Amino acid sequence: MTERVRGAIRRGGAYDPDCTRCPRLAGYLAEAKGRYPDYWCRPVPYFGDARPRILIVGLAPGMHGANRTGRPFTGDYAGILLYETLFELGLSTGPQSVAADDGLGLRGARITNAVKCAPPENKPTPDEISRCNAYLRAELEALPDVRVIVALGRIAHDAVLLALGLRRSAFAFAHGREHALPSATLLDSYHCSRYNTQTGRLTAPMFKSIMRRACELAGLAR
Ligand code: URA
Repeated sequence: MTERVRGAIRRGGAYDPDCTRCPRLAGYLAEAKGRYPDYWCRPVPYFGDARPRILIVGLAPGMHGANRTGRPFTGDYAGILLYETLFELGLSTGPQSVAADDGLGLRGARITNAVKCAPPENKPTPDEISRCNAYLRAELEALPDVRVIVALGRIAHDAVLLALGLRRSAFAFAHGREHALPSATLLDSYHCSRYNTQTGRLTAPMFKSIMRRACELAGLAR
């Protein structure tokens, strides 16, 4: 286990690199490790500021991205727009995240996933989402300064509500919608996946405007 991961455990308790509580995902990662011995193939820890004001919640690691590198949204298409936008807004020290040891840092923001293990076809089951939710809940509890939670897609949105014990029916997902939660504002965005960006469902200006608004709400206006 790397020092980075030990540090994450010491700081949060919201991450367990040895978690195997979802048998299907544990089996999938064990099989992937056999095929790709150099891949991370464990739950992927959160990445970014230790006391963020903005928490960005994705869906789950991609098999050849975060599951390979061990850092959320790193090493595959989904992270391109995300890290470029964070850099443009001064939240990241660089425009690209290529590897867990590339020296990149985030300021004021942290990235995590609703589900920490890569699922087959990027689709966690409802059971896996709820089992993994304890980690997101622990993470949110350990982050008193978070003012804005940016949910990348409906699954992330629902996972945040579940983690906070809030009813889904009271907060419907919609791109750009702001939900006043007791502890923070939940700001919804379409996921920055390859599919969404290549079909134009989510453009760079659309995503920048979401993240600019997150900065405003967090008091990090640039
Ligand atoms: N990579 C991640 O870490 N999360 C996603 O939601 C997509 C890709």
